[in-house]
Amino acid sequence: MQEFIYYAPTEVVFGKDAEKKTAAEVRKWGGSRVLLVYGSGSVKKSGLLDTIEGELADAGIAFKEWGGVKPNPRLSFAEAGVEAAVSFGADFILAVGGGSSIDTAKGIAHGTANPGTALWDIWTQKVPLTKSLPVGVVLTIAAAGSEMSDSAVLTNEAIGRKQGLSTDFNRVKFAVMNPELTYTLPKYQVTCGIVDIMMHTLDRYFTHTKGNRMTDEIAEALLRTVIENGRKAWGDQTDYEAMSELMWCSSLSHNGITGLGAEKDFAPHKIGHELSAKYDVAHGASLSAVWEAWAEYVYMEEPARFAQYARKVWGVQEDDDVEAAKEGIRRTVGYFKSLNMPVCLGELDAGVLAEDALVDMAERATGKDTFCVAKFKELHQGDVYEILR
Ligand code: NZQ
Ligand code: ZN
Repeated sequence: MQEFIYYAPTEVVFGKDAEKKTAAEVRKWGGSRVLLVYGSGSVKKSGLLDTIEGELADAGIAFKEWGGVKPNPRLSFAEAGVEAAVSFGADFILAVGGGSSIDTAKGIAHGTANPGTALWDIWTQKVPLTKSLPVGVVLTIAAAGSEMSDSAVLTNEAIGRKQGLSTDFNRVKFAVMNPELTYTLPKYQVTCGIVDIMMHTLDRYFTHTKGNRMTDEIAEALLRTVIENGRKAWGDQTDYEAMSELMWCSSLSHNGITGLGAEKDFAPHKIGHELSAKYDVAHGASLSAVWEAWAEYVYMEEPARFAQYARKVWGVQEDDDVEAAKEGIRRTVGYFKSLNMPVCLGELDAGVLAEDALVDMAERATGKDTFCVAKFKELHQGDVYEILR
């Protein structure tokens, strides 16, 4: 086990009707003028936004709406949100939605607390972030884990770059989670979420770090739980128990606990981000589309690790490590297919990917071969190209 610092300070308010505690939470964390950040309309349609606004009004908390966040959220929309928050005098940012709204809220919070500094300079760490505004979340989808993670991801559409920022200033103050709020999700978003939840743990699990039993066991239990409840959710996304498990797994998978004490990999995420930046592919779909090619490319670095995954997560009974590893990969890909998720680039809604597009993404992922993607197997530009191809 390697040394680590664990910090996951978000207060979680979980269960049926949890959203009715939102105003009290905002008040508790010092909010009196709130910018409400949401997406393209699902929270209006479901009535959730009205509920939250009614509660804020009843509690005497002023608010201003900032709706219109798109999936794979854009930097320019967060920048405009900063202007709105500053002119409103916001002291609290509340996201109502999924990863895209939450990440936009985080960006707005950083920009509002640092007026005069370009948000992209903060995002690329050209200017160190030393303060931000408090952020709260009402979660409507189990997927990105942004409700407890230290990350946020924005796309700078002017240069075609999808960029993550990791900092403890991205830890939100509270996350309100009512699994019933996910019942209205399009099925495709449920399954994109299942893949993303699995991948936040898988991208930590494939590591050469040894002697990390507790973390391994947590990761394996989480993966088994997601797989089983993902199947149930696929059958009936109004199954409260299944959606509860997925929602809690979404948070635990990306709050750090499934990778403590080990070196992280995150290659599928980094390659997936290039696909989303270029083709606006849904995040979960970008991950399922690259995972098999990545796994096939790297598993011989340590077949025993992939074999452990196959045995502990999928129940594979095979003594030979290489054969077990291959079976674990097959079962993972079979599972993605059973959820109708794409398992190769050709199955994405991106049309035919020309040769120069693959080269371009491999260049961007590795800064024209100036740095490596990942740790389980260091991937250079040529490797990323091969995986994409
Ligand atoms: O925009 P609306 O109308 O709300 O519709 C959304 C959107 O179309 C819809 N939706 C969400 N909840 C709904 C609903 N529709 C009906 N009923 C509901 N209850 O679902 C669509 C997807 O929403 P989005 O917020 O984009 O989903 P997700 O949570 O998967 O977030 C994806 C974004 O998070 C980033 C991804 O890269 C992507 O940009 N990630 C953020 C991370 C983080 N901050 O830690 C880590 C992840 O690895 C990921 O990179
Ligand atoms: Zn993800």
